[in-house]
Amino acid sequence: MSTAKKVYKRVTTKSLVEMKRNNRKIAMLTAYDYTMAKIIDNAGIDVILVGDSASNVMAGHETTLPITLDQMIYHASSVIRAVERCLVVVDLPFGSYQGNSRNALESAIRIMKESGAHSIKIEGGKEISESITRILSAGIPVMGHLGLTPQSIYKFGTYSVRAKEDEEAEKLKEDAKLLEELGCFALVLEKVPAKLAKEVAESISIPVIGIGAGGGVDGQVLVTHDMLGMNHEFSPRFLRRYLDLYSEMDGALKNYINDVKSGDFPNDEEQY
Ligand code: KIV
Repeated sequence: MSTAKKVYKRVTTKSLVEMKRNNRKIAMLTAYDYTMAKIIDNAGIDVILVGDSASNVMAGHETTLPITLDQMIYHASSVIRAVERCLVVVDLPFGSYQGNSRNALESAIRIMKESGAHSIKIEGGKEISESITRILSAGIPVMGHLGLTPQSIYKFGTYSVRAKEDEEAEKLKEDAKLLEELGCFALVLEKVPAKLAKEVAESISIPVIGIGAGGGVDGQVLVTHDMLGMNHEFSPRFLRRYLDLYSEMDGALKNYINDVKSGDFPNDEEQY
């Protein structure tokens, strides 16, 4: 039996830009732990996002605001230990970059140094351009995030579709151009009208990865726990469920409980 390890061609920030140029769509999913990241990487995903959605999905918070930089580094390290092929992007959490570019650089450096991640993602446009420039100047690849930016939920007041009005749509287009000019390697567009997202994707050379932004962009991202159907409560229009894992798990767990209580588990073969 061969002990040789499979050799993969790694996905890089450059290969993502190439994919856009060659009209090949980019598939991105979230992961926050080793086991899930291993399954996702093995399936052939292009990008894993260690999203600050870990605050909701892993810790049960109502928003993404409470998660800390140390917690993001813990999740990112677990993911990095699992992946062999895909690019790993890690969210800078709320409070680790806003208003102070030096603080932003320190946070980005901590993520890269302590977790081994390949790049960071940051929410916002013009208002955080100084932070983006400073992080990029340290050689850290940056993915932007515009549209619905969940760290600003208390400013928006709602998770509904953004940039439906002309003024906000214009600002979004300007911000997307700015992020490209600053040197971001890609951009997430969350929950904006499909027509606007397509226009943005066609107007810039870096890949636009959408979530609730229609099919006219260069790639898609979903929260893995949502697309696997691990919860029944969250059902936005943009979400396609590929499994009903909640029901699958519920059935398996109930079978286990019944087997233990009835004495069926363990049987003679399942003991020493
Ligand atoms: O944190 C996250 O999971 C995200 C995606 C929804 C894009 O930012």
